[in-house]
Amino acid sequence: MGKHIGILTAGGDSPGLNAAIRGIGKTAFSMYDMQVTGIYDGFRGLMENRITRLSSENLSGILTQGGTILGTSREKPHKMQVTGKQVDMTDVIVENYHKHHFDALVCIGGGGTQKNAFNLLKKGLNIITLPKTIDNDIYGTDASIGFDTALGIAVEAIDRLHSTAHSHHRIIIVEIMGHNAGWLTLGAGISGGADVILIPEIPYDIKVVAEAILQRDRAGKHFSIVAVAEGAMSKDSEFKIERLKKNKQDIKDEIKQNKIDKKIKNLTDKVKGGTLQLARQLERLTNIESRVTILGHLQRGGIPSAFDRLIATKLGSSCPRLIEEGRFGVLVAVRGEGVNPVPLEDIVGKRKVVPPGHPWIESARSVGTCLGDTLR
Ligand code: F6P
Repeated sequence: MGKHIGILTAGGDSPGLNAAIRGIGKTAFSMYDMQVTGIYDGFRGLMENRITRLSSENLSGILTQGGTILGTSREKPHKMQVTGKQVDMTDVIVENYHKHHFDALVCIGGGGTQKNAFNLLKKGLNIITLPKTIDNDIYGTDASIGFDTALGIAVEAIDRLHSTAHSHHRIIIVEIMGHNAGWLTLGAGISGGADVILIPEIPYDIKVVAEAILQRDRAGKHFSIVAVAEGAMSKDSEFKIERLKKNKQDIKDEIKQNKIDKKIKNLTDKVKGGTLQLARQLERLTNIESRVTILGHLQRGGIPSAFDRLIATKLGSSCPRLIEEGRFGVLVAVRGEGVNPVPLEDIVGKRKVVPPGHPWIESARSVGTCLGDTLR
């Protein structure tokens, strides 16, 4: 019998996770005669020793399924809820890894999972990670499992909203996930032909947005679609948050610093729940009836797209070879058509956001889409 691999999925689920689990398992069995164990509910399951033996039989038929057959959780090894308290359970997790005689642990997850996995690497575990998030914000990889499917869902939603917005001469504001990165909203907004796209990387001026909609109205287009990222913020909010961050730098007192952190969090939370307010503001400034659609977790559900199945299989099936070669401490990233193992220490703590002047931004502006900062 070859080596023993543990697999867990952590963080928010995304379509394509099962394809990745299948890719690891099937390759491990057929090419390396390895043993594969699934761990339930992310790091929590490893802490609680909730595991299941994976086989060719139970991996059959999961390629097309959404979600994750292993379940997931957002729990971090160093901050786990145990009898109502947050406890550092890292040592228990390390102990259980050895107890199950794992030769390697594959952690499939987003930015937070990369960080948690890196901490376990530093504790001496043989870690490999795969990039998974609909947000597309993992540093060091060209693509992440789940983004393409979520993009397709958001584009279909925008397509459908167009006909009803047009029929009722309304503004429809569609809120799209993505945490603090604008990839999903920008990609969906361009592909769906949104008239305004608001992303966290470009703080918006509400008057500019209203004027862009009024310009369309004067040109005989009496409806508009506004694609807004859940993390998008106005220039005013950005200014307030930046000022608080600066104040914090100048203050030495820890209690005062904590107070400022609370204020920053409150403001950021307000921004996150701000889409309804955005609709009211636009209605008032344009006098055009407005409606809001929040896509929410619809974007994470259902079957994965062909592209997500493809990259999940490609990344997953690369893991057993790396494990066989003893190449640990890497994120198995997508690079062009291929796969590129990147050291975790190079990517942990960094986020891939939409850079200024990114080709997608240029394309959106070229076709006359308002990005909330300037008018054409
Ligand atoms: O990171 C993926 C994501 O879907 C984000 O886009 C969103 O902000 C968040 O997760 C939602 O988290 P939860 O699953 O906890 O509702």
